[in-house]
Amino acid sequence: MTETVIVGGTSGIGRELAAYFAAQGERVVVTSRDAGRAAAVAKELGPNVTGLAVDLTRPDEIGAALAQIQAVDQLVLSAIERDHNTCADYLVAGALRLATLKLVGYTEVVHALLPRMNRNGAIVVFGGLAKDRPYPGSTTVSTVNGAVTGLVHTLAVELAPIRVNGLHPGIVGDSPFWVDKPLDHVVSRTPTGRLATMRDVVDATAFLLRNSSVNGIHLNVDGGWLLT
Ligand SMILES: NC(=O)c1ccc[n+]([C@@H]2O[C@H](COP(=O)([O-])OP(=O)(O)OC[C@H]3O[C@@H](n4cnc5c(N)ncnc54)[C@H](OP(=O)(O)O)[C@@H]3O)[C@@H](O)[C@H]2O)c1
Repeated sequence: MTETVIVGGTSGIGRELAAYFAAQGERVVVTSRDAGRAAAVAKELGPNVTGLAVDLTRPDEIGAALAQIQAVDQLVLSAIERDHNTCADYLVAGALRLATLKLVGYTEVVHALLPRMNRNGAIVVFGGLAKDRPYPGSTTVSTVNGAVTGLVHTLAVELAPIRVNGLHPGIVGDSPFWVDKPLDHVVSRTPTGRLATMRDVVDATAFLLRNSSVNGIHLNVDGGWLLT
């Protein structure tokens, strides 16, 4: 049975991914910062899902937090703590948290799980298109999502034959962070006339995890938004 670990699997896209893989009978581990939330979401998603607590802003503790995971075929790194920041009014604390979470935290998860990772397995690392199209307050988000590109490249080479790909959503209209915000200006610039959905992102992630020749790429899921 395929073992899938979704780091940041209790909300948004990560939770949708967990539901998708669990519905296909795969064994799934979802992580949260909070053990109670991880357990509650796992229970909602079904008997083949388990929850685990890990805080990616505390990289020194990640190895111990993931110790009970036995084997990994598919690893998804989708955790995020959003940081609203500008260079003009730079807030170092928030920037440090997000930079630590996505860059050191994501990498340390891979390091910790590597001995238990299937050599034919795959990893998807979540960036985002704020790397190419910044918005007011996205200074740290744009920076870390840009750095995901370099992370994917180095991991794809270093971890071979394990495959590593980057997934970069545009604004995902039905995700918890965006669902209540006015987004007509984004829709009007999107060639498909609609925003990407969590289901679209799940579909793209499953493709990256399962296609055995797609490796070291960066897949945008944005309805063509970047072209306008
Ligand atoms: N939503 C979008 O439109 C969009 C656009 C571009 C890129 N993305 C990327 O897609 C990914 C998923 O985004 P989302 O909007 O679906 O996320 P989300 O709904 O905000 O969920 C974030 C997840 O990260 C976990 N998390 C938060 N802080 C953490 C920490 N310090 N350590 C470990 N886990 C932590 C949360 O768990 P707990 O709260 O339970 O701890 C939750 O499971 C992110 O990498 C994001 O950058 C999303």
